[in-house]
Amino acid sequence: MTTSSPKSQSPAASVNKTPAKVLILGSGIAGLTSAIHFSEFSNVILLAKSSLDEGNTRYAQGGIASVWSKSDSIQEHKADTLEAGAGLCNEQIVDICVSEGPTAVQSLIDWGVQFTKTEASDYDLHQEGGHHKRRILHAQDFTGRAIEEALIAKVRSIPNISILENHMAIDFIMEGKFNDGKIDPKRATPGSRLGACLGAYVLNCETNGIFPLAADMTVIASGGAGKVYLYTTNPDVATGDGIAMAYRAGARIANLEFMQFHPTCLYHSNAKTFLITEALRGEGAILRNIAGEDFMKRYHEMGSLAPRYVVSQAIDMELKKTGAAHVWLDVSAINEHEFREKFPQVYATCEKFGIKPPHDKIPVVPAAHYLCGGIVVDEHAQTSVRGLLAVGESACTGLHGANRLASNSLLEAAVFARRAASHARDHLVKNTIPNAAKTLPEWDFGRAVDMEEQIDIAATWREIRSLMWNYVGIVRSNRRLKRARERLSLIRHEVNEDYWKFKVNRDLIELRNLLSVSELIVECALRRKESRGLHVNVDFPRAVDNEAKDTIL
Ligand code: FAD
Ligand code: SIN
Repeated sequence: MTTSSPKSQSPAASVNKTPAKVLILGSGIAGLTSAIHFSEFSNVILLAKSSLDEGNTRYAQGGIASVWSKSDSIQEHKADTLEAGAGLCNEQIVDICVSEGPTAVQSLIDWGVQFTKTEASDYDLHQEGGHHKRRILHAQDFTGRAIEEALIAKVRSIPNISILENHMAIDFIMEGKFNDGKIDPKRATPGSRLGACLGAYVLNCETNGIFPLAADMTVIASGGAGKVYLYTTNPDVATGDGIAMAYRAGARIANLEFMQFHPTCLYHSNAKTFLITEALRGEGAILRNIAGEDFMKRYHEMGSLAPRYVVSQAIDMELKKTGAAHVWLDVSAINEHEFREKFPQVYATCEKFGIKPPHDKIPVVPAAHYLCGGIVVDEHAQTSVRGLLAVGESACTGLHGANRLASNSLLEAAVFARRAASHARDHLVKNTIPNAAKTLPEWDFGRAVDMEEQIDIAATWREIRSLMWNYVGIVRSNRRLKRARERLSLIRHEVNEDYWKFKVNRDLIELRNLLSVSELIVECALRRKESRGLHVNVDFPRAVDNEAKDTIL
C-alpha cells in the first residue's frame, strides 16, 4: 500500500471546537465498556468485524472475579493473582485492578448485567482454579452472553456512539507515513518514525470496499489470538488483528509466549472445541486420569483447583505417560439438580453428545484459550504509540504475568476501559491535521487484482494452526521452536506475495495477522531462556531468577 501526502498540514483553528472522535476496534467487553465511558465526552465509532456480539466475551462461562463478600479481601485476591502469575505480574497493576474491580463490576450491574443471585438476594459467588476464596460473579454459565446483551443494549441507547458491524480495521494510519515524514513533535512516538496514530483503514466485509476513518484517539479492543492454534476455545474472530496491526505501527508488544491453555475442553469427535468451565471444579469436580486416579494431588497442593497452567501441564504429562487421548472430569460430587441449575449450558452440551452429568464423567483435553501477553500499555491503557490505546485481551497491562488467574480477564477489561477514558478525558490530544476525515489518503489498491480462489488461504491457515499446535504447544523445545520459525518464514513469503498481488478481503487480512502473531509468539518463546508459568521449554526446564522479566518486542 502506498499513500499520498495531503496538501495542507497546518493545524486548523476549528479543530479544538469540534467534539473529539474516538475510534474503537472491537465490541467485546473491552470495546463496549470503552465506548460507554468515552461517549461521556467524545463521539465514538465502534467497529466489529463480525456481528456485534461475536467475540471471546460472548463465550465466557465462569464469570468475573472481584472481591465481593465480607469474608474476602483485596489482599487475598491480589495474592492469588500474583501466585498464579508465577513471578511476572506487575504488582502495581495488580493492586489497581483488584482494588478498582468492585467499582467496575458495579458499573456492569448498573448498565443491566444480571449476575446470578442466591435465594437471600446476595450475588452467588463461584470459585475457580488458583482462587482461595469464592469471588466470581456469574450469570449461570452464560456470563459472557449476559454481559454482551446488556452492554450492547446500553451502547445502542447512546446517541453519540456510531456502530459499524461487519467492518474490519486493516491497518492504522500513521502520521509519519503520509505526511512526508513530518511529525508533530508533541505526537511523536519515542523510538519510532511513524508518529501518531490518526485512525485506521477499514474494510466493509460485505462489499470489500476500503475507506480511511480519522480519529483523535484509537482504542484497540480486538481481543485475543486463540485461532493461531489448531484446538482453541476461541471463536473465529480471534485472529490477533489488533496485535499485528499495533506491531506494524511500531508499538511495543510483550510476553506472547504466555498462551494459556484451558485444561478442560470437551473431548468428543463431533464437538467443536467447547469449554467445560473451571467453576465445576470449584463445586467439587475432580480430574482423573484414564486409570481413574485423582492425579492432580501429585502435582499441586490445591489438587484439581491448582492454577490453570499447573493443571494443563499436568494433563499434558498424564496424556503422554498413559497414551490416552483425554482425561476425565469426575462431576459426581455435584448433585444433578444443582448441576442443571448452575451449569445449564454445560449440561445441555454434554447431553447433546450422549454424556449424562453428573453420573457420567466428562472426557476433557486442554486447548488454547487466552493470550496473557499483548500490546504493552501503561496504567491508563496507553500504548507506546501516541493516540493509540489498547484494552482487554489484546493489551498487556502486566496483570497476568506468566499465567492469568481464572476470571481475571473480564475484570481487567472493565477496569482498564474505565481508566483509559478517565485519563483521556483530560489528556486527549486532538488530531492536528485539518479536516482529517477528508485529507487522509484513500487506500491505494495499486495493481492488485481480484483473487481467483480462496483455497490457498484456507490451506495456509490450517498449516499455520497445526504447526503452532505441534511445535509451539504446551511443552516446547529449542529445536521445535526453531523449526516453527523457519517454516513460518517460508509461509511469510507466500502470504506477502498474495497480500500485494490480490485485492484484500477479510480472510486474507486475517491470515496475514494470524501469521504475524504466530511469528511473534515464536520469537518471544525463543527469547525466554527459562520455563515459567505457561511457558515450558524442556531445554530450560526451570525458572531462573534473573530471567523474571517481560519479553518485549
Ligand atoms: P473479545 O470479546 O474477543 O472481542 C473482540 C472484538 O474485536 C470483537 O467484536 C471482534 O469482532 C473485534 N475485532 C477483532 N478484530 C477486529 C478488526 N480487525 N477490526 C474490527 N474489529 C475487530 N474470562 C473471564 O474473565 N472469565 C470467564 O469466565 C471466561 N471464560 C471464557 C470462556 C471462553 C470460551 C473464552 C474463549 C474466553 C473466556 N474468558 C473468560 C476470556 C475472556 O472472555 C476474554 O479474554 C475477554 O472476553 C476478551 O474481551 P475483549 O473485549 O478483549 O475481546
Ligand atoms: C472457565 O469458565 O473455566 C473460564 C474462565 C476463564 O477463562 O477465566
